[in-house]
Amino acid sequence: MEKVAIYPGSFDPLTNGHIDIVERGLRLFDRIIICVMCNSAKKTFFTVEERMEMLKVSLEGFQNIEVDRYEGLLVDYGAKRKARAILRGLRAVSDFEYEFQMAMMNRRLNREIQTVFLMTGFRWIFTSSSIIKEAARFGGDIHDMVPPVVNQKLIEKFKKTS
Ligand code: PNS
Repeated sequence: MEKVAIYPGSFDPLTNGHIDIVERGLRLFDRIIICVMCNSAKKTFFTVEERMEMLKVSLEGFQNIEVDRYEGLLVDYGAKRKARAILRGLRAVSDFEYEFQMAMMNRRLNREIQTVFLMTGFRWIFTSSSIIKEAARFGGDIHDMVPPVVNQKLIEKFKKTS
């Protein structure tokens, strides 16, 4: 049977660290569904449509992936898509508590889906969508931390909002 993993996130916006996780995940799974979801603790900067568009453009050359969106429980989406795993990236120790809590809740809600954590490449260990947005907001050069389309969109959007 096909090994499918869901890679969920806010992707606000997608970073090279996310792409690194997709690449690593594809070595373990036959197919990865990257799903733009709602994190109720976060107010997003980009719309769902913008985030999906950036994902699609940036992952254009990738085989065995799909980009989707879902509003609701992650495990419900996973069951609907017959996924056997939820894929999450781990950077520094600071990610762990939040990720651990989420993985445990997801396991309680659906015992059939396993959470798999992958370590990002060392060069992405200190990057995050939030810190990249913060730097870009004040004109910082972040072009080597995000795909070109994301860099462009950040520049455009911050120009409009400033
Ligand atoms: O990139 P993020 O913001 O860390 O991703 C978090 C996300 C979107 C994966 C998480 O908030 C999520 O799964 N949201 C959907 C609702 C849900 O199922 N929450 C987990 C169980 S409480």
